[in-house]
Amino acid sequence: MTTIDENETTATTVPVNPDYVPPIFGDSPEGTHVWQRVPYNADDYGPVADFATDFDHADPSYNPNAPEVWKELRTGGCPVAHSDRYGGMWVPITHDTVNEVAYDTDTFTSRSVVVSVGRPGDLSLPAPIGGAPPITSDPPFHNMARRLLLPAFAPKQIEPWEPEIRALCNRLLDQIGPVTPGETIIDAAVQYAQDIPVNVIGRMLGFPEKDESLFRKFVHDVLERIAEEPGTRDGMDDLGNYILAQIQDHRENPRDDLTSYLMNVEIEGTPVNDEIAGGMIILLLIAGIDTTWSAIGSSLWHLAQHPEDHQRLLDDPEVMTFALEEFLRAYAPVTMARMVAKDTDFHGCPMKKDDWVLLPFPAANRDPLKFEDPDTFIVDRQENRHAAFGLGIHRCLGSNLARLELKVAIEEFVKRFPRFELAGDTRWSVGQIRGPRELPVRILEVAG
Ligand code: HEM
Repeated sequence: MTTIDENETTATTVPVNPDYVPPIFGDSPEGTHVWQRVPYNADDYGPVADFATDFDHADPSYNPNAPEVWKELRTGGCPVAHSDRYGGMWVPITHDTVNEVAYDTDTFTSRSVVVSVGRPGDLSLPAPIGGAPPITSDPPFHNMARRLLLPAFAPKQIEPWEPEIRALCNRLLDQIGPVTPGETIIDAAVQYAQDIPVNVIGRMLGFPEKDESLFRKFVHDVLERIAEEPGTRDGMDDLGNYILAQIQDHRENPRDDLTSYLMNVEIEGTPVNDEIAGGMIILLLIAGIDTTWSAIGSSLWHLAQHPEDHQRLLDDPEVMTFALEEFLRAYAPVTMARMVAKDTDFHGCPMKKDDWVLLPFPAANRDPLKFEDPDTFIVDRQENRHAAFGLGIHRCLGSNLARLELKVAIEEFVKRFPRFELAGDTRWSVGQIRGPRELPVRILEVAG
C-alpha cells in the first residue's frame, strides 16, 4: 500500500506484509479485535455546549481553551465530567480524582489508553498485556514489560544523545534560511518542533530517516482520528505492516538499536513474540513523537507572548532547571485514558464496565488545591511536583529523553532568536495530546 502524507510532499511505500492479519470489527467484544458499543457519529452530537455533561476532547474548541474548560468545571463544582460520546466516558478534573483513578489499577484497566469509537475486543491481546506493553498492561505483567524498557531510557543511555540533539536543532534552525528581523515569520511548530522528537526516536529504533513524515502520519491516525468508524482508519493497518516489515528487516540484518534489542529480550526466560515486541515498538514510536513535539511547541508559544520569561532564560541560564518543570506543568501535553474494569461508584458517578475514563494529567497540574496560583506561569517556581509524566505505575518511561529534548530545543531556539513574537493564529492539535500544530512567530532579533 502506498501512503502519501497529506501535509507533506514525500510519498512513502509501506510494504504489505503477508503475515499481517487485519483486525475483525463488530458490535460486541465476542469474536472481535475492536468493537463498537453504540454506533457513533460525532455530527449527531454537534459542537459541545456544556463540557460537564457532554465532554469531548476532540471538539475543536477544547485544546485551544482547555485550561479555561478545566477551571470552569472545577469552579462549577464538577470534579468528574461525563459524556455519552464514544459509547460513554467520564473525565475526572481535580488532582485528587485523577490521582485516585491512576492508582486504582484493579477498577481502571489500561487495556486501551486512547479513547476512540472502538473498544478492544476478546481477540485483542487481553489485559494484563494489551496491544502496546507496558502502557496497555495491568499488574502483574506491566512490571515485567516495563523492566525490559527501563535500561534503554536510563540517564546514562540518554545523556550521550545531547550533542546529537543540539546538532539536529541547529541544523533545523539553519534550514530556516535568511531571516530579516522584524519581518520574517516562521512556523515554529512545523519548521522546528515537529522534526526533533521524530528524528531522535526514529534513529533510536533504527528506522530510516526518510520515513519521518510517515511516522507523524501514524501518530495522527492513532491519536487524532478517534471519532472515525473502526476499520476506516487505514493508517492503523499501515502502522502494523510497517512495524512487521521493520522486525523482519532487523531479523535479517540485526544491528545495535532499540528494535534489535526488543526482539531479543526475554520475559522470565521466554523470548517475547513479535506481537509483544511489535506492540512495544509501536508504543515507543507513538509515545516519543507528538508528546515532546507538543511540549516544545507550547513552550515556544509561551515565550513568544512572555518576553520577560524569555529574557530571564537568556540572562540567567541556570533558571532553565525550574523553567523546564514549569513548562511541563503549565503546558502538560499528555492526557491518557483507562477503561472501567468492573461496575463501580466513583464519588457518586455510576461507572459501568467498559466505560472510558479520560485522565487529564494537564488538568491535575492546574488544580489550586495542589498548586499555588496554578494558572500563572512562574519561571522559577520552586515547589513543582507536577503530573505531566503521569501518576502511579505507568509514569513516563521516556522522561529523561523528553526533558533532554525539551531543554535543548528551547535553549537553541532562544539562543538563535533572542526575541520573537506571535504572528498569527496558532492551530492546536485535536484529542488527547495537546500542543500547537501551526505556530507562526515573527523573528525580532537574530543572534549575531
Ligand atoms: C514531554 C514529553 C512526554 C510527556 C509529557 C509524556 C507523558 C507520559 C505520561 C503522562 C505517561 C503515563 C501514561 C499513563 O498513565 O497511562 C507516559 C507513559 C509513557 N511514556 Fe511518555 N511522555 C513524554 C515523552 C515520552 C518519550 C520521548 C518516550 C520514549 C520514547 C515516552 C515513553 C513512554 C512510555 C514507554 C510510557 C509507558 C510507561 C508505562 O506504561 O509503564 N514518553 N508518558
